[in-house]
This record gives sequence, C-alpha cells and structure tokens, in this order.
Amino acid sequence: MTNIILLGPPGAGKGTQSKKLENILNVIQLSTGDMLRAEVASGSDLGNQAKDVMDAGGLVSDDMIIGMISKRVDQDDCAQGFILDGFPRTVPQAEALGIMLAEKSLNLDHVIELTVDDEAMVDRICGRYTCAKCGSGYHDSFQKPAQEGVCDKCGGKEFSRGVDDNTDTVRARLKAYHEQTAPISTFYGEIGILKQVDGMAEIENVTRQLENIVS
Ligand code: AP5
Ligand code: MG
Repeated sequence: MTNIILLGPPGAGKGTQSKKLENILNVIQLSTGDMLRAEVASGSDLGNQAKDVMDAGGLVSDDMIIGMISKRVDQDDCAQGFILDGFPRTVPQAEALGIMLAEKSLNLDHVIELTVDDEAMVDRICGRYTCAKCGSGYHDSFQKPAQEGVCDKCGGKEFSRGVDDNTDTVRARLKAYHEQTAPISTFYGEIGILKQVDGMAEIENVTRQLENIVS
C-alpha cells in the first residue's frame, strides 16, 4: 500500500500526474475538487453549499472536506493506496488528516510538491479541457489528443471545460493557495517528509521525477 499527497497550486499538474501514478502504482486518485464537482452536479446539499465558494475561487469549509475524505478512504478501491490531489489544503486539514490516518492505522508514505511559476498557471488552466465520457484531461497547447477532437483513451468526441477555469477565478484560486495552502509545505517540511519536483518541466519529465521518488 502506498499513500501519497501531491501538493501544488492550481494548474501545477496534480490531476495530470495523479492519473499517471494511478497506472504506475495501482493506487487511486482522490481529488477533492472532482468530488466536490460531482456533488455540485448531483445537486446534493453538500454540493449546493460548496458551489458559490468554488465559483468565487475560495475554499470550502474544512469540516465538510474532512468528512468527505474520511468516508472515501474507507472504500474498497483505496485498499492498495491513494494519491490525495487537492487535499489537504489548509493546516487544519493537514492536522485532521494526520489524526484520521492514525485512527485508521494508515501511513503517509510521500508528500510531494510540484513547484511552478504562478504566471504560467493561468494559461495552463484556461487551456484545459476533459473528455465528457471518461474524464481524461487535455490541453489546447500542452496535451493534445493524438487525433484532434477524439479522446485517446475512450474515443469520445465530446469534451467539456470547467466553469471555474477562467482567468478571474484562477487568480482568486492562486491567492487562496498562497494565503491558506502554501503553509502546508512548511508543516510537512518540519515533519521531514516533504519532497519537491520541478513542475515546470514537460509532463513526461515530471512523471519521471515522481517515479524516482515513489518507486
Ligand atoms: P481543484 O479541482 O482541486 O483545483 P485546483 O487545486 O485549483 O487545481 P487544478 O485542478 O486547477 O490544477 P491541477 O494541479 O490538477 O492541474 P492539471 O493537472 O489539471 O479544486 C477546485 C475548487 O474546489 C477549489 O478552488 C476549492 O473551491 C474547492 N476545493 C477542492 N479541494 C478543496 C479542499 N481540500 N478544501 C477546500 N476547498 C477545496 O493541469 C492543468 C493543465 O495544465 C492541464 O490542461 C494539463 O494538461 C496542463 N499541464 C499539466 N502539467 C503540465 C506540464 N508539466 N507542462 C505543461 N502543461 C501541463
Ligand atoms: Mg486538478
């Protein structure tokens, strides 16, 4: 079993690299952003509470997120391990995660931060789109499907773009990251578990850097 946290600002490549590591390590990606978007789409109470905060680029309450992750980690598909993508995002979330893992007798094997330049993140996020059928991620310039308009993985021909993937929201998300999430790097640095990789390198190169750490 391998349990990993991937840290980094919006657009750093957490989702992109989690998908690669899922295949390499046979573990599962747990993206709190994806979980919240599914709640919003389903119109659940949790989704309705989260929607406005997400649209504004702010952070959803710690309690809501911690409860969501705690339940998710208990599911069978997490038995081989998980990659936390987008969680923890505040120091209270990191502290709660520590307690939660101890209660479940689980270890944290790696905390890896993708370091990037903020300015490049706006282009990365605004050019991002996903296959509407299987959720595979693409980018207008940096990660095109082999055949234009056709998903490499499932052959789907419909794609969607995130409602919060516009310049204004990305800037608000970057601000929230620096104010509320960046202190987590210090938190894990002090525990001595934090490693950093260059997230500005090409996608395949970043994957190789991660593989060197986790394997
Ligand atoms: P979330 O969905 O987690 O968004 P985020 O953290 O802002 O991160 P992104 O998904 O935008 O970026 P990413 O690092 O995954 O980059 P990606 O791989 O897609 O959260 C959304 C919202 O939900 C939050 O704003 C908040 O409101 C709420 N939320 C979620 N979790 C929460 C929590 N724990 N607490 C409170 N609130 C929470 O890459 C981006 C693009 O760049 C892609 O198109 C990709 O192809 C391309 N790309 C990736 N790597 C490279 C590279 N090396 N070179 C060139 N292009 C690249
Ligand atoms: Mg993501």
